[in-house]
Amino acid sequence: MGYPHKSHPRETPILSKHFGDPDARTLSGWRQRGGYRALEQALGTSPADIVNVVKESGLRGRGGAGFPTGMKWSFMKPGDGKPHYLCCNADESEPGTFKDREIMRWTPHALIEGCAIGAHAIGAETAYIYIRGEFTEPIRVMEEAVRDAYRDGILGKNAMGSGKRVDVHVHRGAGAYICGEETALMNSLEGRRGNPRIKPPFPAVAGLFGQPTTINNVETLTAVPHILTNGAAWYKAMSLSSPKSTGSKLFSVCGNIRKPGNYEITMGFPFKEFLYDLCGGPLPGRKFKAIIPGGSSVPIQTVEEAEATLMDYEGFVAQGTMLGSGGVIVFDDSQCMVKQIARLARFYAHESCAQCTQCREGTAWTTRILERIEHGEGTMEDLDTLLEIGDNMTGKTICVLSDSCATPVASGIKKWRNEFEAHIKQKRCPMRTAVAA
Ligand SMILES: Cc1cc2nc3c(=O)[nH]c(=O)nc-3n(C[C@H](O)[C@H](O)[C@H](O)COP(=O)(O)O)c2cc1C
Repeated sequence: MGYPHKSHPRETPILSKHFGDPDARTLSGWRQRGGYRALEQALGTSPADIVNVVKESGLRGRGGAGFPTGMKWSFMKPGDGKPHYLCCNADESEPGTFKDREIMRWTPHALIEGCAIGAHAIGAETAYIYIRGEFTEPIRVMEEAVRDAYRDGILGKNAMGSGKRVDVHVHRGAGAYICGEETALMNSLEGRRGNPRIKPPFPAVAGLFGQPTTINNVETLTAVPHILTNGAAWYKAMSLSSPKSTGSKLFSVCGNIRKPGNYEITMGFPFKEFLYDLCGGPLPGRKFKAIIPGGSSVPIQTVEEAEATLMDYEGFVAQGTMLGSGGVIVFDDSQCMVKQIARLARFYAHESCAQCTQCREGTAWTTRILERIEHGEGTMEDLDTLLEIGDNMTGKTICVLSDSCATPVASGIKKWRNEFEAHIKQKRCPMRTAVAA
């Protein structure tokens, strides 16, 4: 099975270098490509030194929040006499995001190596890869790779002959978007309902099975072997912009665009060049209308905002949005923004774990009102009600799923208010007639 697109000369394939190459999936193929040298080196290095290199590299979490990885690892106190755990978040359910599954499908040993190094760095003997249950192919590939790594003595009680124990378990997720939230993930892994936990205590103090735990995204952990092999300075030097955003990043691109797929670029890449040159621009006869740059939970950008953005953590914030998970969803001028935003709200209403009233009620009411407007049955007061509900859903719940529903609604009403008002005034979707005409 081939990979959907050929690498563009402006891409920087590091994590994605072997996507589409079936030989890289096998243990022998991975070793031929330099695999497991970083782990061998790491097992002979003190955990504190590894944490320092990762800190120095500036690597930030690729799961959405962008928290500095080295700093997160340093919260795990060595020598506290407790078992420590590493959880790899492979739940990847954020709409528009499809990079982690490709890392696992094509380079499973890269993730195992990242997990083993991460476990050693935080003083853990056990790492769990919590993988979305629907990912049947990546699960099969990961399980086979873990079996081969045990068979070869890379994992187990004497990992690579180091005398150190490193176990990696693949755990199938329970089938809900919320299980990607780190504390819900730990509950689910423990066999409970995947509801987020109140923080504090933070996972580094009391996480999985009540013990100190670190949770990292697939892409974050897969970057670590490259940092150890090539050095923190190499990783930092790759950035085209801010020293706070380093290394390369995978962006998943979908929607109304000529060349959807996964693209790996260095931080600070101009978004305009990315959308038009790498991804081929709009479909014939169409214009871009709106872009969600970081997975469905971040504010929606107008094309003008997107075209002025540098693709790094600070660059997206400067243009009123966030880098998030790097899931770029593109809408062209054939799309009705009311319909698209209602669809997003429906997703969050369906996925709310319903623990918090603001989220349970807020996501449901937001969906109902948006659908009413979409079908020409809304009122002007509905727009104020939506913003008011959104206010009550932001910063008031155990996790940010509620905020994630309110965010695209607020940015959508602010930037495409004319479309909402047209639905209300004309009592129908004006786009539907326009496209049909
Ligand atoms: C509702 C919700 C869903 C999430 N889903 C994912 C996910 O699928 N994968 C992921 O890595 N992080 C997800 N996150 C973020 C995690 O809680 C956590 O921040 C991340 O796994 C930390 O890893 P990192 O520091 O390497 O980014 C989600 C957060 C929320 C609130």
